[in-house]
Amino acid sequence: MIKVAVIGCGTIANAAHIPSYLNNPEAEILYFCDILPQRAEAAVEKYGCGKAVTDYKEVLADPEVEAVSVCTPNNLHPRIAIDALRAGKHVLCEKPAARTYSEALEMQQAQHETGKTLNIGVVNRFNDGVNLIKKYIDSGKLGEVHHVYVSFRAHRSIPGLGGAFTTKEIAGGGALIDWGVHYLDIVMYCCGDPTVKTVSGETFCKLGRDMKNYAYQDMWAGPPDYNGVYDVEDSVTGLVRTSGPVITINGAWAQNIGEAEQYIDFMGDKAGIRLQYGKNFTVYTQEHGALVEYQPVFHTRDHFQNEIDAFLRCVRTGEKLPSHIDTVIITAKMMQAIYDSSRQHREIELN
Ligand SMILES: NC(=O)c1ccc[n+]([C@@H]2O[C@H](COP(=O)([O-])OP(=O)(O)OC[C@H]3O[C@@H](n4cnc5c(N)ncnc54)[C@H](O)[C@@H]3O)[C@@H](O)[C@H]2O)c1
Repeated sequence: MIKVAVIGCGTIANAAHIPSYLNNPEAEILYFCDILPQRAEAAVEKYGCGKAVTDYKEVLADPEVEAVSVCTPNNLHPRIAIDALRAGKHVLCEKPAARTYSEALEMQQAQHETGKTLNIGVVNRFNDGVNLIKKYIDSGKLGEVHHVYVSFRAHRSIPGLGGAFTTKEIAGGGALIDWGVHYLDIVMYCCGDPTVKTVSGETFCKLGRDMKNYAYQDMWAGPPDYNGVYDVEDSVTGLVRTSGPVITINGAWAQNIGEAEQYIDFMGDKAGIRLQYGKNFTVYTQEHGALVEYQPVFHTRDHFQNEIDAFLRCVRTGEKLPSHIDTVIITAKMMQAIYDSSRQHREIELN
């Protein structure tokens, strides 16, 4: 059995990490850790295993623990992941790796120094549909993929207004770092992790900043806290040139347009694919002078289960997964450049 601990027992821990560990016959959860004791205790009670603790250092001090999931807010990812690596644990840390590129680099350095696994929760790399798209692209079915358009736009979907997600000091950013990270990661993965050359971006903190007058229907990640902070972007636009395709980005947690558009368009010179985020995809091409489109039908497993199974496998074997910090670091660099470009209102060249 691989003995594991879950640090941070909130939404993603309960929705994905804990059930996926419990479903894997090779894993045993030894600790549930949360600074809110009632959350750790509720997990022990609900899942009937493990010990509830509030200090993650107690988890790291136990030599029996081989691996940890870090499911805390973004600002704590580097500190907890680095401490865990230095304590000899393998780490699966939720996305985004960190708030900034330099923090992500520190995490990567700790991984290199310790040789322990550090995977980031870019769960779409374990999504069967995304992997099928990657096969379409790798096999040349789309021809040259010259442009990818990424749209992650919602009408009014700011999470927990005033809370951790909208406080830059905690989250590092808004719609880009929270949603965009997944979309950009899918593009990078499917297109073979190309080198990023230039980045131009603008971010906008507009609709949420007058918190009391922000109208919405639903709010995920908790109710508004009008005494809290809102200093992150609620929308973003950008253009990224890579050694592969050009990527254009339009993202919004909130915008004054009523339709939600959450998809990625891979445009090749032989065929194109629209992936509806988290759902199916459609292939567009021409055959014998006729325009053709079709939706492949395929079986899928839960991608979080795939991610946790792969993490446990690599704890056993040392295998390097596509979610390794060495790959994810490129997207961290790209997102940092989008924020830098927006702050400086100019294009950023990366090398
Ligand atoms: N992969 C995905 O699709 C996905 C989805 C949702 C969230 N996430 C990521 O997961 C992370 C957590 O998000 P969430 O929605 O579960 O947030 P959440 O607020 O529901 O849970 C975070 C938990 O961490 C706890 N915590 C805070 N400081 C701690 C500390 N020092 N030690 C131990 N526990 C601590 C909090 O009390 C809380 O229970 C974020 O980084 C988020 O970006 C990823």
